[in-house]
Amino acid sequence: MQDFVQQLSSLLDSKYVLTKDEDKAPYLTDWRKRFTGKALAVVLPSTSAEVADIVKLCAHHHVPIVPQGGHTGFCGGATPDDSGKQIILNLKRMNQIREIDIANQTITLEAGCILQTAQEKAAAQGFLFPLSLGAEGSCMIGGNLATNAGGTNVLRYGNARDLCLGLEVVTATGEIWNGIRGLRKDNTGYDLRDLFVGSEGTLGIITTAVMKLYPLPISQWTTLVACQDIASSIALLNLFQKRATSLLTGFEMMTQESLELNEKHFPQMANPLSGSPPFTILVELSDHESEDHVKQLLEMILEEAFESHLISDAVIASNLTQANAFWHMREHITLAQAQEGANLKHDITIPLSSLDSFIQETDVLVRAQYPGVRIINFGHLGDGNLHYNIAPPLGVDPKSFNEKNEKSIHELVYAQVERCHGSISAEHGVGQLKLNDLRAHKGEVAHELMKTLKRALDPQNILNPNKVVSI
Ligand code: FAD
Ligand code: LAC
Ligand code: ZN
Repeated sequence: MQDFVQQLSSLLDSKYVLTKDEDKAPYLTDWRKRFTGKALAVVLPSTSAEVADIVKLCAHHHVPIVPQGGHTGFCGGATPDDSGKQIILNLKRMNQIREIDIANQTITLEAGCILQTAQEKAAAQGFLFPLSLGAEGSCMIGGNLATNAGGTNVLRYGNARDLCLGLEVVTATGEIWNGIRGLRKDNTGYDLRDLFVGSEGTLGIITTAVMKLYPLPISQWTTLVACQDIASSIALLNLFQKRATSLLTGFEMMTQESLELNEKHFPQMANPLSGSPPFTILVELSDHESEDHVKQLLEMILEEAFESHLISDAVIASNLTQANAFWHMREHITLAQAQEGANLKHDITIPLSSLDSFIQETDVLVRAQYPGVRIINFGHLGDGNLHYNIAPPLGVDPKSFNEKNEKSIHELVYAQVERCHGSISAEHGVGQLKLNDLRAHKGEVAHELMKTLKRALDPQNILNPNKVVSI
């Protein structure tokens, strides 16, 4: 292996091949601190050609590669195993924005570009780059595409896959596939781009992407509303969809319990709605017309919602600072959970027509079988995507609670998801965390097809082995 590391160091400036423990340490533990691995080396290439050379060398020596971006993923996909035989290939030095094509309304960026930087560069040219998530200050485009990230704008603009037009990918044999195209139509056979999006580094290493841009809205109105139950929240969503159509750009849900946890850790983020409602909904409308148009529309819909008893209270943000405060309240729930300690996460989608029964029944089952647990349920309600997280009862050590109950709680929640024909991973992916759950969820035929693809594209099994599927 000494030989391999020496050859690795000859492929790029040796200061970008990290082998000392203290240099490797920041790359070895995931954001949730659930997984810590070991690595032979951490490699930081700056070009696609360097990535290709590294992959070829690894293929020659049978050294597995763990691609890594901002390392903010929730499923341990970017964390190596503990064998010490894998390398981490972190893309952060490939962070150039190559082009903003104004006529084509596209942005071409390298995989290591930080999401927020892409948003800011696009905005400076009058464009919206719609992908938006709580980790946007540190997650990277390659990681976003590899996980097919969702976030808060999916309702209007789709997830990372929907925004992607073209890719450049280094294959498992070290070839460079140049699929850098900004085409909205391209039916030339199998869609390779869509194969790599969402593959979590198991089929290829994404080095460059062409993504869609949209005109930047000129007015946005954000409101928090109180709903007494989930059925009213969904009826409210349907009302907004009917009246505001494409102007509806955000519809997020926070339960009372999740906002209480938020306020415990971030007291400045108190819910401005009166009486701690069971469900607080954040609604955002965006428009390219005058401020008045969308504000009047929002007020009209809220009035109708009051009259139909769908909502019991509403606060419209009066300025950008207040609108940002509403969004921060939503985005800080994950940070509040991290401060509180380890918890069990379920990132699930349920058809909106079954969501009411899912929550009512699952809440009852969970509370009956695990008395005292806190159900931290929040998420992108407009997409039917819940972050249905379970925290241990107050005063109970999270580590021992999770060790004892993790398996059975996942089984309970996932059985409910299956009953409702939902998905056990809406936007966070599979990684190593849900490797075993995936097989049962996808069914044998789909699982075998996934393994066939993996074997075909990575016959040596060197790209992120034992993530998503094991072959
Ligand atoms: P990493 O964590 O580095 O990697 C994720 C996976 O992609 C790994 O399997 C890795 O091997 C692979 N990978 C990374 N780069 C490449 C590449 N260039 N080529 C091939 N494979 C690669 N996610 C959402 O979807 N919606 C949210 O709303 C959301 N909110 C979040 C809020 C917080 C506070 C945090 C911490 C995370 C949140 N996430 C959310 C999860 C996470 O940010 C996303 O999954 C994100 O897309 C991961 O990007 P990353 O660059 O950090 O990828
Ligand atoms: C969010 C992360 C947890 O929506 O996906 O806040
Ligand atoms: Zn989310």
